[in-house]
Amino acid sequence: MSRVAHSRTLRDRGLAVGMIEDEVRTVTPERAAKVQRALDRRVGSVVCVMEAVRRRHNASALIRSCEAFGVHEVHLITAYFRPSVGAARGAERWVHLRTFPTVAESIAELHARGFKVYVADLADDAYTPETLPVDGPVAVLFGSEVRGVSAEARSLADGAVMIPMRGLTESLNVSVSGAILLRAVADRRRSLVGDDLGDDEKRRFTAEWLAAEADGRRGLRARTE
Ligand SMILES: C[S@@+](CC[C@H](N)C(=O)[O-])C[C@H]1O[C@@H](n2cnc3c(N)ncnc32)[C@H](O)[C@@H]1O
Repeated sequence: MSRVAHSRTLRDRGLAVGMIEDEVRTVTPERAAKVQRALDRRVGSVVCVMEAVRRRHNASALIRSCEAFGVHEVHLITAYFRPSVGAARGAERWVHLRTFPTVAESIAELHARGFKVYVADLADDAYTPETLPVDGPVAVLFGSEVRGVSAEARSLADGAVMIPMRGLTESLNVSVSGAILLRAVADRRRSLVGDDLGDDEKRRFTAEWLAAEADGRRGLRARTE
């Protein structure tokens, strides 16, 4: 794709002309197209919430699974999250990562947007990944490694979902359970509504990404000059 066509494509995506002309010089057309293709394959109506997942490698691995399965939005219930670069391989840059100081605020926001929130928890009345209702927007909330899902999250959620355990161990690693559940939920939701990430969010994400790329390059130039 030529630079002019590339600039036009970004403009068609709704980015401000000044921004395009600055940033288009720093991002190759191929790379921009790759990012747009990934955004076109995302479900906006499945959200992952992580409650106090303390080990950075677990949180980062979970984020990486979200990105791989096209789950765009991730809530972290902690004020001090620094993802482990090794485990996520930078995937945290490719999802809409949001932090919430309390689980109540994340759940209230999701409810206000029409989401049902299910805790990933070994409960007697839990759905399985195959039976969880996906006829509307759905969020899956994961608990911490030692304590599991908090009582507050359980009381505010709309239900629970669990991966049946057939062995002697009581639970799975949080990032493993996340990969299994999110893959199933995202695919089932996608089969009903397709890839439904909204255009506004695609534009917002693209603008933020271009700004981060430009910052990174400016930083690199400053360090090497
Ligand atoms: C290591 S587990 C926590 C175990 C903790 N001792 C407990 O009592 O829940 C961490 C998180 O992974 C998720 N998880 C682990 N195994 C699961 C399963 N079989 N089904 C659903 N979620 C699971 C849950 O969200 C859980 O809070």
